[in-house]
Amino acid sequence: MAQDGNIGLAIIGSGSSVPLLGLDNQALSQVVDTSDEWIASRTGIRSRRLASPVESLRSIATEAAKNALEMAGVPAAEVDLILLATSTPDDLFGTACQIQASLGATQAVAFDLTAACSGFVFGMVTAAQFIRTGAYKTVVLIGADILSRWVDWGDRRTCVLFGDGAGAVVLQATPARDGFLGFELRSDGTLNHSLNLAYQPQPQALTGGVAVSQGTFHPITMNGQEIYRFAVKKVPEVIEKALFRANLTVDQIDWLLLHQANQRILDAVADRLGIPADKVISNMAAYGNTSAASIPLALDEVVRSGNVRVGDTIVASGFGAGLSWGAAIFQWGR
Ligand code: UT7
Repeated sequence: MAQDGNIGLAIIGSGSSVPLLGLDNQALSQVVDTSDEWIASRTGIRSRRLASPVESLRSIATEAAKNALEMAGVPAAEVDLILLATSTPDDLFGTACQIQASLGATQAVAFDLTAACSGFVFGMVTAAQFIRTGAYKTVVLIGADILSRWVDWGDRRTCVLFGDGAGAVVLQATPARDGFLGFELRSDGTLNHSLNLAYQPQPQALTGGVAVSQGTFHPITMNGQEIYRFAVKKVPEVIEKALFRANLTVDQIDWLLLHQANQRILDAVADRLGIPADKVISNMAAYGNTSAASIPLALDEVVRSGNVRVGDTIVASGFGAGLSWGAAIFQWGR
């Protein structure tokens, strides 16, 4: 039952979509000076899906949302809010409205939310606030990214890590049981330099003393070791904080669902928290790091495989550029 007069919410459907095209480590080693051995042993990644020039963020995100709505048994016309967590929109003005149109979600308000690889967790907390206040009843939350657009395919330190994909969930207000148990979100802009995809200004003189900046975005740059250390230290802390807020202990967690950045990070975080390996959800071998999509993509796979059951308690944690990081604890299903 929802506590303290709060409106409860449930996560009642999941969906995902990945581009058709796959590129395994062997094939990638024809592009840059790397090897399957290096990538697999340092990251756990063996392959990734890459969006072709005819695919778009809109197309994969819409597909993921459709699948989630179908599982939830909710018609698109009943959706009140569409949140798109992404750092790679088709349109800098936002892509969520295009998805609203593609879904035929005529009553829904739609907007983008940017928090890099933490975007899905930040989006889940945002969705929960709209539901808790009674403003909206049904929310579609999508995490989707096409980082292949912004990777430097000549930089082996970064290009081997990322893949493209989309995942989505449907959240709904419910008087019966509150499935959103706790969260903690954090940001630290002083470390922004260690992972970014920054705008590169290009001055253009217009007239007289008036000049504007007509640049583009840099390819992704990352200090891998710094981000690794940050993740292994901060993720367990934020999960412990969220557990405390939810009044739960680690042994009450059924599944640990981390942003799929590196298998070594997953193992180290699980180890620090004392969570056994069979409770750790991992699918990065097939998809690499899909940024905001990685958590809902992995969730959808385990839900559809039947491993996650209704009522299971899941702790999800995202971390990455910003820097940003956070954890959300929820129970699956209605
Ligand atoms: O989604 C946002 C969150 N991102 C992350 O969580 C990423 C966190 N960081 C990591 O996962 C790891 O730091 C990486 C996987 C990025 C790198 O692993 P590492 O064990 O920290 O390797 P390193 O950067 O220390 O590089 C070790 C060596 C270097 O060679 P030298 O200088 O020791 O001779 C690199 O040049 O490996 C070399 N190297 C490669 N070799 C073959 C770096 N990338 C590659 C590569 N193939 N792709």
